[in-house]
Amino acid sequence: MKILVTGGLGFIGSHTCVELAKQNHEVIIVDNLYNSKEEVIDKLKQITGKSFKLYKYDLVEKEKIEEIFESNEIDAVIHFAGYKAVGESVKKPLMYYSNNLQSTINLLEVMQKYDVKKLVFSSSATVYGDPGNPKYVEEMGRGKTTNPYGTTKAMIEQILEDLYASDNSWDISILRYFNPVGAHESGLIGEEPNGIPNNLMPYVMKVAARKLEVLSIFGNDYPTVDGTGVRDFIHVVDLAKGHVCALDKMKKGLNIYNLGSGKGVSVMELVTTFEKVNDIKVNYKIVERRPGDLPEYYADPSKALNELGWKTEKTLEDICRDSWNYEKNNM
Ligand code: NAD
Ligand code: UD1
Repeated sequence: MKILVTGGLGFIGSHTCVELAKQNHEVIIVDNLYNSKEEVIDKLKQITGKSFKLYKYDLVEKEKIEEIFESNEIDAVIHFAGYKAVGESVKKPLMYYSNNLQSTINLLEVMQKYDVKKLVFSSSATVYGDPGNPKYVEEMGRGKTTNPYGTTKAMIEQILEDLYASDNSWDISILRYFNPVGAHESGLIGEEPNGIPNNLMPYVMKVAARKLEVLSIFGNDYPTVDGTGVRDFIHVVDLAKGHVCALDKMKKGLNIYNLGSGKGVSVMELVTTFEKVNDIKVNYKIVERRPGDLPEYYADPSKALNELGWKTEKTLEDICRDSWNYEKNNM
């Protein structure tokens, strides 16, 4: 198939382009380089030996999207493009609503016009809110989101549901990611957050690389296995493969899938595994809980297994090794 990947130079998009190319899909990327670098395209070629068409366009400009659909016979779209920093979204909500919603609506309108009605959308476990049970199942539905970023994801899910209700010739897969981490085993592509990271794994990496002094672990008095927070960390290559399965095994209609390992891992377990696998010390201190954090949650990934034949294959050790390999290669 000929697949348009929006945000294809970003962290998850780039890994997905690799897996798509490996399955002989033709990949066209659109990315405005807001949070990525053009050189990723060379890395993708290096890893796969294939070429990728790149449009350096902003999805907020609708006529640019039209141009892409006018000049390519696109079969399906995977939509990653968007802003994703939770803290920044609290400070700049309009910027988040404007970019994430406008670019999605533009894309959907153009897809409708060109009769391309197969879409895979990047959502997040954050849309569950706080359902009161740590094991998240798709049937739980959406809860109350806690920040504008999360609200854009919930709003886009609703837009997609309304669109499907109006025209059921659309096939839409909404993928709710848990905590994506890791990097490609080649060390050529990975996550590069701007400035001081907010998320756990990128912060661990900076401390291991001696670029930041100490990791603050936010709380060790949660009712969890060792008192620290528990999350479902998913290797980005497993996540990328989930997108290929979502496309290749796409069911009719609108379907929602959790993409996670199904296993909760504590912050302390991640840090100690990272130290052991890479034989490197990560300085940490225990500090107060971070406001807004939930103690524990993880995916029930059985729907993705039953309907898409997908499950995670990489271990926590793989995650820690590949993350550090990428960091070392890019120091
Ligand atoms: P990323 O920032 O690395 O990639 C997003 C890409 O989209 C970037 O390359 C950026 O330049 C591009 N982009 C942003 N706005 C654009 C626009 N208007 N036009 C064209 N390109 C634009 O993020 P990621 O981690 O790869 O996440 C991909 C998607 O998955 C996002 O929608 C994100 O919200 C979602 N998601 C990410 C996580 C995570 O932890 N990384 C978790 C859940 C969901
Ligand atoms: C957050 C977002 C989620 C987003 C994800 C990106 C919310 C509610 N969730 O998830 O939407 O998709 O980031 O991966 O905002 N921790 C530390 N020290 C640190 C950083 C984190 O102890 O320096 C702990 C946190 O308390 C948490 C765990 O590590 O228990 C994971 O945190 P983080 O990586 O920030 O992701 P989430 O908060 O789970």
